[in-house]
Amino acid sequence: MDEHSVMFLTKFSFFLVLFVLCPLDSGSRSRCSAQMTDNYAPSPAPQSSYMFSEADALYNVVSYSGLTSPPYISSSFCDGQPSLNSITITCSNTIGPDNEWHIIEITMTSVTLDGCIHPDITKLIYLQTLDLSDNQLHDSIPSNLGDLSHLTTLDLSSNQLTGTIPLSLGNLKNLTRLELDQNFLTGIIPPSLGNLSSLENLYLDDNELNGTLPKELGNLRNLGSL
Ligand SMILES: *[C@@H]1O[C@H](CO)[C@@H](O)[C@H](O)[C@H]1NC(C)=O
Ligand SMILES: *[C@@H]1O[C@H](CO)[C@@H](O)[C@H](O)[C@H]1NC(C)=O
Ligand SMILES: *[C@@H]1O[C@H](CO)[C@@H](O)[C@H](O)[C@H]1NC(C)=O
Repeated sequence: MDEHSVMFLTKFSFFLVLFVLCPLDSGSRSRCSAQMTDNYAPSPAPQSSYMFSEADALYNVVSYSGLTSPPYISSSFCDGQPSLNSITITCSNTIGPDNEWHIIEITMTSVTLDGCIHPDITKLIYLQTLDLSDNQLHDSIPSNLGDLSHLTTLDLSSNQLTGTIPLSLGNLKNLTRLELDQNFLTGIIPPSLGNLSSLENLYLDDNELNGTLPKELGNLRNLGSL
């Protein structure tokens, strides 16, 4: 373990203490819904991918998700061990240009999350897998989620998400799996999804989407299931 990861773990331990001492009041969860409109503009380039900002972002994402027992994410979550009960947070020190540890996966499936997806998720810029399926997450999908250019798997299926499918998702050139089915999403299927050239699995069914499939989806050569 190098110096940086020790600092990271120390910082995260601090957050765990905060978790215990200052549990979020339930009303604060509604703050995830700050961005209700989808006026997509790319986020400014992060000034630094410094892991402290990732720890801050992870703290917000986990706490606003409504996880009932946050302390069972141990402070050693970044040691390369992939699994902590039913939650997986994986880090890598080979993905960035700096050999530092970055969070590349958050999987929290079927753990009765009843909060929302905090917009700080978009600060975890090295994320490759985000799987929050089979929970009761509500509110909208952060409109800038498509800034996470490394994403290969995005599974938010079987929740209670509302609002529209962010146009920005069309930026995710490496996305192979997009599952948004079984929510309460409304509006159209963005034509920008036709730009997801790596997509192999797309599930949007069982929502309140209207209109027709955009003809752009016909461009997707790798698409196997829809
Ligand atoms: C996308 O995938 C290609 C091929 O695997 C890889 O070289 C590239 O770094 C990936 N881009 C991102 C942003 O992850
Ligand atoms: C689609 O939904 C939007 C708003 O959700 C609505 O304004 C529009 O009339 C709907 N279109 C159809 C064809 O139902
Ligand atoms: C798809 O990508 C191209 C090139 O990046 C862009 O010009 C176009 O507007 C995108 N299409 C949609 C529907 O977003």
